[in-house]
Amino acid sequence: MIQGTLFDIESKTIESISNPETYKGIYAFHKYWGKKPSESLSYFIQNCTNKGDIVLDPFLGSGLISIETHALSRRFIGIDINPFSIEHTSFLLSLPNPNEYMKAIHEIKNNVHDKIFETYRMSDGKYASHYLWEKEKLIKVWRKPETGKTRIEFEPTNSDIELIQSFEKYEIRNIKKGTFFENARINAKADMSIYNLFTRRALYNIDLLLDEIKKYPEKLQRALLLTLTSSSGQMSSMVFAISGRGKTKNEESTKIEVGSWVIGLWCPELHFEINVWNCFENRAKKLHKALLESTNRDIPFTNDPLSVVRKMSSIGIVHGNSLNVLSTLPEKSIKLIITDPPHSDRIPYLELSEMWNCLLNKDSDFSDEIVVSNAKERNKNKMKYLEDMSKILIESNRILLEDGFLLMYFNARDKQSWDFFTVIKAKTNLEFVGAFPMEYSANSVVQDNRKGAMKTDYLLVFKHHNGTNDLNSLNKIPGWIIELPKQTTASGDNDE
Ligand SMILES: C[S@@+](CC[C@H](N)C(=O)[O-])C[C@H]1O[C@@H](n2cnc3c(N)ncnc32)[C@H](O)[C@@H]1O
Repeated sequence: MIQGTLFDIESKTIESISNPETYKGIYAFHKYWGKKPSESLSYFIQNCTNKGDIVLDPFLGSGLISIETHALSRRFIGIDINPFSIEHTSFLLSLPNPNEYMKAIHEIKNNVHDKIFETYRMSDGKYASHYLWEKEKLIKVWRKPETGKTRIEFEPTNSDIELIQSFEKYEIRNIKKGTFFENARINAKADMSIYNLFTRRALYNIDLLLDEIKKYPEKLQRALLLTLTSSSGQMSSMVFAISGRGKTKNEESTKIEVGSWVIGLWCPELHFEINVWNCFENRAKKLHKALLESTNRDIPFTNDPLSVVRKMSSIGIVHGNSLNVLSTLPEKSIKLIITDPPHSDRIPYLELSEMWNCLLNKDSDFSDEIVVSNAKERNKNKMKYLEDMSKILIESNRILLEDGFLLMYFNARDKQSWDFFTVIKAKTNLEFVGAFPMEYSANSVVQDNRKGAMKTDYLLVFKHHNGTNDLNSLNKIPGWIIELPKQTTASGDNDE
């Protein structure tokens, strides 16, 4: 980048930044909250930094940004408190060979497919694909037909019920129970464990898969584990049964369809139990296809951020609390901080990742998570959130180079959650340049279910007072504003 000629924007680029395409291939493989579109990441990385500069994301999430920075030959430091985030980013940076991955899937299939199918055996010796439950009561059993597509539906028999009951006393071996908090929004109770999100039969089958997965070396094991975590929602009792969709001859259809599981809405009363092997194999096929299209097999990375600063490594992926990690970085060492921090009370990341972390055998650090939680026992109120975010901004200011940038994706529905931006004025040398809306987030189920939430995230642009870059062309981006976006409510607590 040459000083003074920043942000050369073509109209095609403008469109793709504020209204990007949906994720594809490896980027679409695993769910995570608030995955950021590659278009805007790569555009700003390209325009705000030169090759070799350090880009930092203190709230790494799915880690897609690490691939973008690598592709553009920038150094990168990513930090996240969520163990899942580190696993997923490590996976993206060192994808297994597609043939080796498929070979492992076939070996696992040889070893456990029949055992898993036995747990779904019906009285006629054939195997069920889906069970429809209403709360604790089994109401239908489905089977895939031998030919054609139309499923065959059965009333549950004594044999189906006895088979399920035979797993009631099963002692789970490989899966942590996890920590839960009272959270009415996601239907969670403090005395729950992840065992409540699955039938015991599903947990038995997941244990069988985990026994197999553990046999593989690190890189393959990680990809196999993420195949399991990415299919775990579909294996759980969180899969909605949808009815009343569409009309036949003006009458509401009573046909039941299999919904997906939705992150953030747990335990629907009418729900499915789906054959665990089928869920796993479907995801494995998707991943295999994505692996065939991907190239990032062996991008080296370290867990030491200082080795990136000292140019001994190009990528540092750090598991921990950003507040602590940022304080270890030298001042004026980072060119661009581009990040999507937790958005006040919108998404409790660790709570929602708990299922994945339990399957990965990882412990979540709930005490240091930056979030506003309505679980009283967590003591995560708005004041604490503002305090933590302010500290992040003050540290960001310290470590940024004089011609550096801070870009922040942000969305909070209440005025108070934006208050930490006043800290920027009072305690840093950073200057607000402007912001624009990112249309991609309008389809998020979690977001759309929150009355009063802003329908889009905003990307907020800050620069150092001393920076001499001309940022005028940013106003070509649709929706560009030079004031902070209007927040919708005075308090976010009572509007649901
Ligand atoms: C909105 S998400 C980031 C999503 C990311 N932009 C992506 O593309 O996937 C916010 C992240 O902040 C992380 N986080 C929360 N508190 C943290 C802390 N104290 N230190 C580091 N990361 C934290 C959460 O685990 C979550 O992954």
